[in-house]
Amino acid sequence: MLYCLSIPFIIVAIAAILLKIYIKLTIKWNNCYNCLVGKTALVTGANIGIGYNTALDFAKRGARVILACRNKGRAEDALRRIIKTTGNQNVTYKLVDFTSLQSVRDFAADINKNEERIDILVNNAGIVISNEEYTKDGIQTVLHVNHISPFLLTHLLIDKLKKSAPSRIVNVSSLAAKNAGLSVNSINKINSISKNFLNIAMYNDSKLCNILFTTELAKRLGESTVTVNAVHPGGVRTNILNNTSGFVKDIFSILMKLFFVTSEEGAQTQIYLSVSNDVAHITGGLFEKCKQIDIYQTAQDADLARKVWEKSEELAKLKDSEKISYL
Ligand SMILES: NC(=O)c1ccc[n+]([C@@H]2O[C@H](COP(=O)([O-])OP(=O)(O)OC[C@H]3O[C@@H](n4cnc5c(N)ncnc54)[C@H](OP(=O)(O)O)[C@@H]3O)[C@@H](O)[C@H]2O)c1
Repeated sequence: MLYCLSIPFIIVAIAAILLKIYIKLTIKWNNCYNCLVGKTALVTGANIGIGYNTALDFAKRGARVILACRNKGRAEDALRRIIKTTGNQNVTYKLVDFTSLQSVRDFAADINKNEERIDILVNNAGIVISNEEYTKDGIQTVLHVNHISPFLLTHLLIDKLKKSAPSRIVNVSSLAAKNAGLSVNSINKINSISKNFLNIAMYNDSKLCNILFTTELAKRLGESTVTVNAVHPGGVRTNILNNTSGFVKDIFSILMKLFFVTSEEGAQTQIYLSVSNDVAHITGGLFEKCKQIDIYQTAQDADLARKVWEKSEELAKLKDSEKISYL
């Protein structure tokens, strides 16, 4: 009896080990060593996880790095660690809360007033939550943090990015976008709680919005030398599940421990997109493992991209003078 039970267990264990080896062997490391002295990079959600490792890499390359974080203590801790590891003193942090439109506006005004240039903007901050909640701006919290705030921030910094051109915007999306349910017909439901069996439907939709934002922004920026691309960092072992509960947390926590890559490994594609000469002229693309991949089918609808854009302008309360129109 014990013998019979152990055979399936051994098969599953061997399959898991082989999968783990496969994942490790297929990690793609950014192999560009470009120096960033004289450049300024802004990374949102830079105190931990993938964002921290992205900012750390930029600091190693000599950039001025701005860590956009929501918590002073965590920001100071990240800043200390980056300066200690890299010796680069030209790293700073600024506080911003992506659940507040006003906070994003204050943050952008500070950057526009006090920073000479922004060469790289990595829209990385993101959350997954199980609770059904809205921010005080009346926006569904996951949509607000993951899409509306980076959408607003990018608009408010676009002139600075244009002045610093060639410059790059990198939007951190996810494979979860493949499972999004958002469509042209359901566009008016973009800001209502949608649920799926794992309770992460809103996350999927918000990550789809990241890609739709990328493709539409690339069109609007046209031939300008500001490029914008989206990235799926892979399954990465981070704190992203800390605010989830129940089934989604149980399942993904196990997968994370067993199969997900480290934050440093997960940061490679967004670093590649930010620094490599290979992608200097590519815009509107989606990348994974330091390689351009086909835009997921869910995100190929140009009409949906335009409608999501218009809805996002409304939710972000953009003034007419702040809108980005086609060149
Ligand atoms: N981990 C994965 O497997 C995976 C897969 C696909 C895509 N991604 C994407 O990768 C990005 C980074 O996630 P991660 O895995 O590195 O997660 P993480 O370790 O939880 O980091 C998320 C970052 O976002 C910040 N953040 C959260 N809410 C914020 C708010 N209201 N205002 C400002 N900043 C806020 C967090 O700050 P605090 O530390 O203060 O909370 C943290 O710095 C996200 O966009 C995520 O969707 C991750």
